[in-house]
Amino acid sequence: MPCTVIVGAQWGDEGKGKIVDTLAERADVVARYQGGNNAGHTLVLGEETYKLRLVPSGVLWPGTLCVLGNGCVIDPEVLMEELDGLEERGVDLSGVRISGNAHLIMPWHRIIDADSELMLGRLQIGTTRRGIGPAYADKASRVGIRVQDLLDEKILRQKIQTALSVKNVLLRKIYHQRPLDKDVLTEATLRYAERIRPFIADTSLLVNQALDAGQVVLCEGAQATLLDLDHGTYPFVTSSNPIAAGACVGLGFGPTRVDAVLGVAKAYVTRVGAGGFPSEADEADSTRIREHGGEYGTVTGRERRCGWLDVVALRYAARLNGLTQLALTKLDVLSIFESIPYRLPDGSVTEDFPWHQSDFHHAQPVYERLEGWSTDISAVRDAGQLPRAARDYLAFIEERVGVEVAIVGIGQRRDQIITLRDVLEAA
Ligand code: IMP
Repeated sequence: MPCTVIVGAQWGDEGKGKIVDTLAERADVVARYQGGNNAGHTLVLGEETYKLRLVPSGVLWPGTLCVLGNGCVIDPEVLMEELDGLEERGVDLSGVRISGNAHLIMPWHRIIDADSELMLGRLQIGTTRRGIGPAYADKASRVGIRVQDLLDEKILRQKIQTALSVKNVLLRKIYHQRPLDKDVLTEATLRYAERIRPFIADTSLLVNQALDAGQVVLCEGAQATLLDLDHGTYPFVTSSNPIAAGACVGLGFGPTRVDAVLGVAKAYVTRVGAGGFPSEADEADSTRIREHGGEYGTVTGRERRCGWLDVVALRYAARLNGLTQLALTKLDVLSIFESIPYRLPDGSVTEDFPWHQSDFHHAQPVYERLEGWSTDISAVRDAGQLPRAARDYLAFIEERVGVEVAIVGIGQRRDQIITLRDVLEAA
């Protein structure tokens, strides 16, 4: 499909990067539409491992246009390091384009993020402390600094000065931190500006031109459906809209242009940070899944909480995103239990994700135990060679979620993938 949105269907870390990387071979454009360096992708190519935080996964396919859209928040220091690191390893950056309308994460955002979490104590969200929430808050308050401000030294100096006249009061009086020095900060930002300037562009125009020309555009979401600011498990969410509709806002094209929405889900579930997690496994099983699946954060290194596949949540993701297909990753790790309905505090049973936070927090998963497979499937390349129990598991998910499975991931490497249906077939 010329315009395919790729979205996380759970709480993030589903392996979207690898799926995007696989499809990117046949894509002309890969465009990220929200989030910042709270995201992290690990891509394994032969002996080489790449850890990406901002640049879309398509960057490893030369000739692909890689866009960071207006819906992203960009820490210029992190971006500069990432660009330098990729260039040092010989990666071609000529296709990277950054929206002038994307917002910058400034040092005060990082400080406020971390200190707000400390002040919340037991009630903290468990953010990545990368300044994401405060940067999006400033965007909504219309006091943010944008990527295009890096193009004009005078404007940049003025905006930093104006921002600091308020932020330094906050830093001193509320957070008990030392104020930031305007000149030091401006000089540092100007150095990043120098490096980033050649990549800044009108990315909405570029993406629309690609669509007009019938090119294959992959829209890459960061984080995931249940971390969506509006539809996720608020307040334990990120501050942007990872759901598929976010692609239109975060890249600047109309909803009529989207052809397909691929949801990426793990064969089990993980979550980092605080918040409800009905199908969370007990300590022993959680540890077993974590060790087996290497479930540690790419960005923060935090241990991920692990649990069983939650079909209620997956059905919710199918509804919110209008999923046309599913990619199921980490089928090689394991999956034995599934929660299909939830039992609510009043004793009723539902297959629909509870809209009220109290119902969600008290929902009890009702598990169905499925036959597992104890064989190593990481070398399988053809769905027909999968053990019967694994094939039944896929069929079961398709039936209960109402979305066909197109791709199955069975390992970290680029070739460890089983294609059941061609996601980009119409292109
Ligand atoms: P923030 O996006 O750093 O503000 O964090 C808000 C919540 O989203 C926290 O629970 C984070 O752990 C979670 N989160 C943010 N980015 C990711 C991600 O890429 N994968 C998984 N969880 C994430």
